[in-house]
Amino acid sequence: MANKSHFNAGHIAMNTLKKNGVAHSSQIETKMPEKTYHGLFTKDAVEFLKQMPDSSVQLVLIDPPYNIDLAHWDTFENYLDWAKQWLDEIYRILTDTGNCVIFGGFQYQDLKKGDLLEIMHYTRHNTDLRFTNLVIWYYKNGMSAHRFFANRHEEAIWLSKTKNYFFDLDSVRVPYDEESKKTALKDKRLLPESIEKGKNPTNVWEIGRLNGNSVERVGHPTQKPLELIRRFVKGLSYPGSLVLDFFGGSGTTGRICIEESRNSILVDNDPAMLDYFKKHRQSMNGNIFSAPYEIKVSPNLDEFLGIVKNEVEIEC
Ligand SMILES: C[S@@+](CC[C@H](N)C(=O)[O-])C[C@H]1O[C@@H](n2cnc3c(N)ncnc32)[C@H](O)[C@@H]1O
Repeated sequence: MANKSHFNAGHIAMNTLKKNGVAHSSQIETKMPEKTYHGLFTKDAVEFLKQMPDSSVQLVLIDPPYNIDLAHWDTFENYLDWAKQWLDEIYRILTDTGNCVIFGGFQYQDLKKGDLLEIMHYTRHNTDLRFTNLVIWYYKNGMSAHRFFANRHEEAIWLSKTKNYFFDLDSVRVPYDEESKKTALKDKRLLPESIEKGKNPTNVWEIGRLNGNSVERVGHPTQKPLELIRRFVKGLSYPGSLVLDFFGGSGTTGRICIEESRNSILVDNDPAMLDYFKKHRQSMNGNIFSAPYEIKVSPNLDEFLGIVKNEVEIEC
């Protein structure tokens, strides 16, 4: 039976535009910036957000405390009361093509503590953010269980400011293996040039969690894998645009922004972020395709945004 999504009006419209060689209105003409800038701020997230101007960020990518007592910063009396304060700022600071990714998990059993479900409910009913995708981050390594199915996923929600959100699917396509490529080429509903580019990674991503001895580790207790962050940064922002992570942790988002030629702002109220980020930079492979970059620790925010703005491309 055909997949219902093939009859979706948006899907048909996108294919028609593609066939006629017409760009979707969310498409942005991008070029490699000459240099990227990365601002590091040791500050409370909410305090920082209040200083951010309207429509200034292309991608907000955050991995907030999950409220599961993993560290001193991970326990809340009322999670949503706290989360509301930063959730309420996101729509305002995003550009019209802007996106927001929030990592989280669902709390099972009888905990009934605040979690990503409450964030989803709140953003749907109390903000103008649009819910675009739920991405399941699936991993094979994890704890065993005897009274329930062992958990092997976390989630990330992708929200956008408008219908005109930026999405560069081509940059995150995954190659077909030879066999499935042959089958796909016979499917009349698929465009041959899209098949050549690779397939949509879907909203279930299999990426291994970082083990204690993983080479990626820089010492932060809840560090995310590079490839997980890279897919969001590449797909939902463009070279020279500004990415903000106001729960910076070790600075994984900043590292990916350097490697993928985006500007970034990292905020964390723990100054240890600065040391973790140094370690990230030491272990970065010299990526010859990325633009040169500059790190600015606690810069004046307006001046920093002024520099970044000069590097951002003009939307068409
Ligand atoms: C889940 S970790 C982020 C890990 C990060 N994604 C990485 O890959 O390294 C969340 C971070 O939020 C920070 N944090 C907690 N509450 C904060 C607040 N109110 N303002 C700023 N940062 C905060 C913690 O210090 C912690 O480093």
